[in-house]
Order: sequence, then C-alpha cells, then structure tokens
Amino acid sequence: MHTFHVSLKKVVDDSYDIETGYELEQKLVEDMKNGLIGTISNVAIITDHNVKTLHAEKILTLLKQAGFHADLFVFEAGEKSKTRQTKEILEDAMLAKGFRRDCCILAVGGGVVTDLAGFIAGTYARGVPFINYATTLLAAADASVGGKTAVDTPLATNLIGLFYQPKKVYLDIAAWKTLPKRQIASGLAETVKHACLADHDFFEYLKQHVDDIWSFHPDVCEHVAQENCRIKYTVVMKDEREAGLREVLNLGHTVGRAIETVSDYRLLHGEAVSVGLAAEVNLSYQLGHMSQTERDDVLSLLERCQLPVAIPSYIDREALVQKLYTDKKVKNATLRFVIQQGIGGIVEFSDGDFAVPIKEETIRKIIMDMPKAP
Ligand code: GLY
Repeated sequence: MHTFHVSLKKVVDDSYDIETGYELEQKLVEDMKNGLIGTISNVAIITDHNVKTLHAEKILTLLKQAGFHADLFVFEAGEKSKTRQTKEILEDAMLAKGFRRDCCILAVGGGVVTDLAGFIAGTYARGVPFINYATTLLAAADASVGGKTAVDTPLATNLIGLFYQPKKVYLDIAAWKTLPKRQIASGLAETVKHACLADHDFFEYLKQHVDDIWSFHPDVCEHVAQENCRIKYTVVMKDEREAGLREVLNLGHTVGRAIETVSDYRLLHGEAVSVGLAAEVNLSYQLGHMSQTERDDVLSLLERCQLPVAIPSYIDREALVQKLYTDKKVKNATLRFVIQQGIGGIVEFSDGDFAVPIKEETIRKIIMDMPKAP
C-alpha cells in the first residue's frame, strides 16, 4: 500500500479593473488588442435579443475590424432565459462554430447576460476568460461585479453556478439611455440597497438626485455607477466567497429572491428586491435596529425610484413564506436574515456573522401585514 500526496497549493491573482464611462466600445477593443486576454483572438459575444442590435453588433463590427475572429450568440431577453437549457443551447452553438479552449467570452448586456455568460465561461472547456460589458444600471450596480455567476432553476434563482471572476468589467453609462423605465428602476433597487447597507451619505445623495438619474444627468449617473462599484467591490475584496461579510449584499434579497420566483418573474429582479427591502426594513424596525422615520425614509426613496413596496395581489403569500427556505443563508432549516442598522449600516451579530436566525412566524406576520399592490 502507498499513499501519494498531490501538492497543489495555489496563489491566485484574480484582480481586475472596472471601468466606468460613456460609450466604451472602442476602449474595450483597444484593451483587447493590447493584451487584456493575452494572445486569444477568438471571441464569443453572448448577448440577448434586445442588446444585440443596440450594442453587441457594434462591438462585433469593431472586433472584426481589429482582426479578431468574433461571433454573436444571442438568446431571448429576460430572467426566464437564465436556465441550464439556455446555457446548453449557447454552449452547443459555440462548439458548432468551432470555439475551443483558445477563446474568450464577452458578455454584452444586463445581469441575466453577465450571470449566464460568466457561468458558461467558467465551465466551457474547463474555463475560458471572460469580460463583462454591462449595459444596464442593474448590471452596473451589482451583477457584473464580484464574480457570482449562475443560472436559475424552477425551485429558485441562482442555485446553480460558480464564483468566476472576469478579466475586466466595463460599465457603459451611455447604454442606460436605451433602457425602459422599469429597467432603470430595477437597477435603482440595488443602488438603494447599497446605500442602505453601507453609506448614509450616498442615501442622502440619492434622495437629493433621484430625479437627475431619471433625466440621465451625466455627473449624477457617473457618481451612482462609481458609488455602487465602490460599495460592492469593497465587500467582495474582503470576502469573495461569501464566508461571512458578503452576506450583507443579500439585504432585501431573502424576501426579494423568493418573491421573484413566486411571481414567476413577472417582477423584475430589482422590483422583487424593492419589495424585499420593504419587508426587511419592517423586520429591522421591529427588532429595534431602525427608527420609524428611517424605515419610512427607505420606503419613500424606493417609491420615488418608481419601485414597488407592496406585495402584488397575484402573489400567494403563504407560498412566498415557504419559498424563503430556498435562500442560501438558511442553516439547519432555519431562516437567516441580514438586518439593516439605521441607514448605512448592517448589524454584526457576532464576530464576522452578519445574518441572524429569524423565526418563521416573525417574518410571516410582516409579509402578511404588508400592503397589497393594486
Ligand atoms: N448580489 C450579491 C453579491 O454579489 O454578493
């Protein structure tokens, strides 16, 4: 008998840049020409039907002009496409077009595109590099940064996926102008979440400037993009794999992700997060971590962002309570919640523990008492 020891200690440097600005297509192609993806010249652009004509075709043309071999892989827009089935279809299409290990994936679009394309990149040929070119406020605020990639399952959102970091993230603020209002609002929900959990001044800034966001004031939009980034990457740099601190980014998502699934994706992700934040500020208030004024301030900002704070009438509230148990923070069949502390903070329960067990009856009462949307 013999035991062999396979020593595979690793030092990994997954650092990358996030560039914010306007119309960054040319900059992206220059970076790629200048070695962002080494000597790789095969680029699979993954996008959805909406973004294809708005942004991805332009990038395809620029890449071809720069001498890259590039192809577009397009799927139906919307959270309902973020599935294992879509992943398989895109992978088979890439294989049929001859893409192998020596390729790079370029995700062009919003959160659904960056989550799905990043997951494909992490598993395609056992992992190929990928770049996120984020065209929505939601992707800028959250999805494109931090390396969480995933698909949804019929049970719940984001249950199958991996941590896989991009080579670079581009946040193209000019692209926000092409979005429907509901999509801007959806991105604002993650923005309000960031302010609620980390930065009182940013919360006040949002209160003051929410109308400037709606009118795409360039300096305000750039500030919003940068503050979102700063808050998110500060957390991710300390706890990439969500061993503890990164759970704070789940604020509003325990109820939010559950209602998103129970609504069968009639609610956009950010709209669901907004209802989740509304439920969770009530929880924080009830636990004595927020004043009534602070709670009402959050609800009022969400409403000014044209986001829902009531539960739509078509939602089965009992099903919603049961769906909470699909949350990744659940431990030993006990619901755990991140609790907001005032505005701009999170309660730390013990050293490095940011989620606390909450009895089902407590959150059930909050959900049952929430107003019904007309
Ligand atoms: N969206 C939450 C996170 O990235 O951890």
